[in-house]
Amino acid sequence: MAQPILHVQGLCKHYKGVKAVDGVDMRLNPGDIYGFLGQNGAGKTTTIRMMMGLIRPSSGSVKLFGEEINGGDTVLRKVGSVIEYPGFYPNLTAIENLEIHRRLMGVKDKGALEDSLRTTGLWDARNRKASNFSLGMKQRLGIARAILHRPELLILDEPTNGLDPMGIKEMRQLIQELAQKRNITILVSSHILSEVEQLATKVGIIHRGVMLEEATMQELKHKNRQYIGLQVDDFAKSQDLLRDELGVRDCRLEDDGWLRVYDEGKQPSEMNRLLVREGIEVSSLVAMKDSLEDYFVRLVEGGAAHA
Ligand SMILES: Nc1ncnc2c1ncn2[C@@H]1O[C@H](COP(=O)(O)OP(=O)(O)OP(=O)(O)O)[C@@H](O)[C@H]1O
Ligand SMILES: [Mg+2]
Repeated sequence: MAQPILHVQGLCKHYKGVKAVDGVDMRLNPGDIYGFLGQNGAGKTTTIRMMMGLIRPSSGSVKLFGEEINGGDTVLRKVGSVIEYPGFYPNLTAIENLEIHRRLMGVKDKGALEDSLRTTGLWDARNRKASNFSLGMKQRLGIARAILHRPELLILDEPTNGLDPMGIKEMRQLIQELAQKRNITILVSSHILSEVEQLATKVGIIHRGVMLEEATMQELKHKNRQYIGLQVDDFAKSQDLLRDELGVRDCRLEDDGWLRVYDEGKQPSEMNRLLVREGIEVSSLVAMKDSLEDYFVRLVEGGAAHA
């Protein structure tokens, strides 16, 4: 397996009487878009601050590109971040704000300014003062600043907070573009699963400082209840038929004895017709349509019950 870009192990941050982060493990592999999910106060920002060496962990470790960080590390140059609401000099323009950052980071290529502003859709607004920017524009300016030095890892803390549906969609597109066109590995936190569902390749769910689950999107889809379940008298033959005749790709016999089809857009009635026609006895057929959001809520409620 490739070396993880970010590896968090047993990370804890305890404040007086509050275990803000309590034994968190996370692993980001190259190319991941990692959705870091948790309700308000779950510990997302505290975890991210420790990743960036901004606060010291009570215990545990953060490794970036295989190197353990201790604050002031050069490896942090490979990382860009926007944590909570990004701050700017209000009386300076967008491009002036970025220029200050360019010098600070020692980025020699002046073309990086235009590149960052164009990527984030702010080139036309470059000469406007940051104080006149909308919330969505400020979030994008934060990203423009975070990618200026061409990081390999980008950490975005709730970039869609407070945005309207259009702004959320644009942010999603921007994140996707950064991952695909620039090959940046991305960690994006959110308290709304549906916001990262279409984007994330991997998800970590934190609740009251504890990581309840870390799984690839694929694994999560198998665990949640969005599938068509079948009870049949010949599993192997059914599996072959569904694959060959209906193009089903994701079909498994699960431990509980159900044959489950996880492909989206397949019709239960069509499956039933096919199997019966081929002489298979179908004793049960159910279509479960829980969304991932339902799964997230159930998981968090279960976590709350154990807390
Ligand atoms: N400096 C601090 N001193 C004391 N407690 C803190 C401090 N920073 C965070 N906490 C507490 O730690 C917990 C986690 O906070 P954190 O900001 O990391 O959550 P979050 O998941 O980012 O929440 P949100 O979605 O609201 O941004 C909260 O209970 C918070 O009150
Ligand atoms: Mg936060």
